[in-house]
Order: sequence, then structure tokens, then C-alpha cells
Amino acid sequence: MARIVAGIACSHVPAIGAAIDNKRTGEPYWTRVFSGFEKSKEWMAKTRPDVVICVYNDHASAFSVDVIPTFALGCAAEFPPADEGWGPRPVPVVKGHPELASHIAQSVILDEFDLTICNKMEVDHGLTVPLNLMFGSPREWPCPVIPLAVNVVQYPPPTSHRCFMLGRAIRKAVESYPGDLRVVVFGTGGMSHQISGPRAGLINSKFDKAFLDNLTKDPQKLARIPHVEFMREAGAEGIEMVMWLVMRGALDTRIDEVYRFYTVPASNTAVGHIILENRAKKAAGKVKRAAARAGSAVRRSN
Ligand code: DHB
Ligand code: FE
Repeated sequence: MARIVAGIACSHVPAIGAAIDNKRTGEPYWTRVFSGFEKSKEWMAKTRPDVVICVYNDHASAFSVDVIPTFALGCAAEFPPADEGWGPRPVPVVKGHPELASHIAQSVILDEFDLTICNKMEVDHGLTVPLNLMFGSPREWPCPVIPLAVNVVQYPPPTSHRCFMLGRAIRKAVESYPGDLRVVVFGTGGMSHQISGPRAGLINSKFDKAFLDNLTKDPQKLARIPHVEFMREAGAEGIEMVMWLVMRGALDTRIDEVYRFYTVPASNTAVGHIILENRAKKAAGKVKRAAARAGSAVRRSN
């Protein structure tokens, strides 16, 4: 059976991608941001998921403003980086997992979450920047990634509760997949930021920190936050945080927070990051190690 072992959330600020692509990560402004992800990369290298499901938003790159699906699942075999105005980012093509993705589509649609199925899609900074933050800059991404794009660009985006419940449906879908896969779910975007209008530059660290606390302690409370509260407290683009709730909904009720990082600012944005592990992950890890030991004992005795 496939299972979700952990979830991570992180901001997806495009300037982070530009800093990587233009080799400016060593500048003091950027070392403050990137140093917060050193432990995350170690955790990722240790956790080694078979598949990542990345909940992100398209910023009018793949979909333009002509067509805006509320939830769009990438079922293709690969997803090239989108041209966001400066040419596509020099990052590897994202390889998908069509079998698991179409299984998720079937399961969640039969559970009445009517996703748009994308058999061809480009992915923008919303997806590629979190991959860099968690995996660094390898020649190929180390595992397949299933993109799940959420509309937070044009009103009305889905509610917090809808996102949380979609996470639950995704978890059910993964757990009913026959293959033996360990899956990590990414929730991306946020934290507080507003990039235009009279309140441009708004950052609300108090709101962000409470959001991080409740992601661990009381996610149901976050699933009741209305759009207007995100707008008021976290700025117009703070609504991206609903995507973190898809990730949280896909995890167990009781989880272990293994890492957290918060810094202000990167570009116009408060950068927040958290790693949450399902407790079953540890038990499963122990069983796997015991099985490996037993296997090597059997081999020795033969
Ligand atoms: C910024 C942040 C975002 O999340 C985004 O998608 C675009 C711009 C910013 O901080 O400038
Ligand atoms: Fe964004």
C-alpha cells in the first residue's frame, strides 16, 4: 500500500528562484533565507520519498487568465518549467507519476472533488522553487512529482475547509493505491504578503506564527479561516496559505513537528517553512529496518 509519510510547507517566492539561477545565494540577504533550508535538505535526503505531491498555484503561467481551474491535477509523464517572462528556469524537467496521479484523480473525483485533469502542463516558480528549497539543485529531481494546482489568483479561490477536506481525500486515494510508495506532500506559497495596491509590502508575523503553531496543534481551527480574514491579516496574496491546508489535511490528526523556520522578508514575502511527520512513518521505518536485518540474517545463514 502507498502511504503519506510526511508533509512540508514552504513559501515559493520567485526571487528565491532568481537568486539560485543567478548564483546569488551567497549574498548575506540570501544566506539568511537559504540557511533555514539546510536541515530540510538533510531531512529530505534521509526521508527519500518515492513520490512528491506538490500543492502549489500557477501564477497565470500555464493557464493564463483565460481559463482558471480551481483544482488541477497533473497526470502527465513530465512537466517542463514555464517561461515566466525571462525564459524557463534552468531547472530539470519535472517527471510525473501518471499511474498514481490518475488513481488519485479517480478516487477524489468519485469522492466528489471535481478536479481538472491536466495531461499537459508547464510548471512555474510556485512548484520549482519549493523543489529547489527541499532538494537543492540536482541535475535531475530525485523523485517523480505530481503537481496539484490550486486557484488562489482570481476570486473566488476554494475555502480553507475545502482545501483541508481535499487533503483528506488525497490521503484516502494514496492509501488505496496498490503500489508500495512512500509519499511526501508539499503545501507551498504564503506566508503573509501583498504585492500590489496600497498595502503592498504588508507582512504580519504574528498571524504567520500563529498559523504555524496551529498547523501542528489545531489545523481544524485554520480550516475555518474565511477568505476575508486571510486578506485582512495576511495580505491579498496571503490566501496562498490555503494550499498548506491541503497538505495538512492529507496527514494524520496527530503528527510530529520536526522542523520549523521563519524569516522576514524575502522579496515582499514572509518566508515560512515547516516539516510534519506522520507518526506511523517512524513505526514503519522500524519495521522496514527489522525486515532488512532479518533478510540479511537469512542470507548469511544460506
Ligand atoms: C512574490 C511572492 C509570491 O508568492 C509570488 O507568487 C510572486 C511574488 C513576491 O514576494 O514578490
Ligand atoms: Fe505566489
